[in-house]
Amino acid sequence: MALIDDLTRRKSVAQLQSEAGQRSGLRRVLGLWHLTAIGLGAIIGVGIFVLTGTVAATQAGPAVALSFLIAGTASAAAALCYAEFAGLIPVSGSAYTYGYAVLGEFAGWIIGWDLLLEYALIAAVVAVGWSGYVQALLDAFGMPLPVWAQGAYGSAPGRLFNLPAVLVALGITALLAVRMDWGARFNTLIVAIKIAAAALIVVAGVAYVDPSRWHPFMPFGMHGVVTGAAIVFFAVFGFDQLTTAAEEAKNPQRDLPRAVILSLAIAMTLYFAICFVLTGIVPYTTLNNDAPVAHAFTAIGLPQVMVAISLASVCGITSVIFANLLAGARIWFALSRDGLLPGWFAAVHPRWQTPHRTTVLIGSVTAVAAGLFPLDELAKLVNIGVLGAFIVICSAVIVLRRRQPGLQRPYRTPLMPFVPLIGIGFSCWLIWGLPFTTYLRFAAWLLIGLVVYFGYGRAHSRLAG
Ligand code: ALA
Repeated sequence: MALIDDLTRRKSVAQLQSEAGQRSGLRRVLGLWHLTAIGLGAIIGVGIFVLTGTVAATQAGPAVALSFLIAGTASAAAALCYAEFAGLIPVSGSAYTYGYAVLGEFAGWIIGWDLLLEYALIAAVVAVGWSGYVQALLDAFGMPLPVWAQGAYGSAPGRLFNLPAVLVALGITALLAVRMDWGARFNTLIVAIKIAAAALIVVAGVAYVDPSRWHPFMPFGMHGVVTGAAIVFFAVFGFDQLTTAAEEAKNPQRDLPRAVILSLAIAMTLYFAICFVLTGIVPYTTLNNDAPVAHAFTAIGLPQVMVAISLASVCGITSVIFANLLAGARIWFALSRDGLLPGWFAAVHPRWQTPHRTTVLIGSVTAVAAGLFPLDELAKLVNIGVLGAFIVICSAVIVLRRRQPGLQRPYRTPLMPFVPLIGIGFSCWLIWGLPFTTYLRFAAWLLIGLVVYFGYGRAHSRLAG
């Protein structure tokens, strides 16, 4: 009985709401568009600029747009559920906070522990994608990197590690440890550049589209489309990051839910257009490389457009690394503050006022992974964590509606319980489409998580009696 009590103990929604009230020493300056820009800053990145090409070439063919549709449906359903929580508990939240509040400590721990590594690995995938575009630019200017620094050992003869990926991971870690406010200040500009790049792909490419390249539309069959969806799912999450700005929003109850939905809708619209343009301007078979958009525009004889898009992608993708390292460090910080991991990690630097220890640790894991693994191997390790978080959030909405139907909800997920059930169903479908390596990595990490919880967290939790 004591075990069950421990595993299901939770912070109440009222407690979290009052904590949110007490903590708001921050200035409330962010409106709907700022918040939407924060969402877009974390959503649009390597998924669309790199994985669209590799998935089209190896899994889905021109039907990569259908892969996006499946992934986008899972994400949209989860976004509507996140939006209900974002209005209800406007704290710097995450699936961890919401899971802890509704499903209890054990579910919260599992999801927090899971996202800890997931965010570090996502940042690593993005750092390697960033490096691909930096190298495309260096090549275009006749200044290729020495072979040993171009990529992970074993990915091509002579390579030792991915130097640009390591440098960007360490650079952003240093920035986060010292000046956390940088991201918020420059984010809107970076997002504008990134959206301009995405729009340029469509505008510059559309005249070169040859619809005959869309035939055969589904060369690898439906199985390829679903496997592709599990990979391009990477492109459609990140909107949850904007809840980290909850305490700086002017009107979080009204604007957070809207910004969650708006940022995903804008990203999805751009994604569909890019899928059709990219597979329409060059044969999909040529898109399997580190910088598919750049190479496609070189191939159709538009090198200036290629340079513009690559420069903008390099700028734009930076914000995704930033957002994920920030989220990873904050989850670790929150787990430590709640007593589930040692309090040593929860220290805030006296001068910089940042959780510097967790930031440096997460950043180091990211840098090592980004330096030593090629993008396709790293991409196989992620997505399961975020899909797991989506399942938890969708379930939590249903549970909380039943348990506390009378709570004042500024935003209500529509069509209950169908929307969360669609979110759960599509997320399970996508998990099923993931490669076996992903399950192995997930199971191993989960096992370590169980040992840590039962060896440490359960007894040291701040909720322990
Ligand atoms: N959605 C983010 C990206 O595509 C993680 O880079």
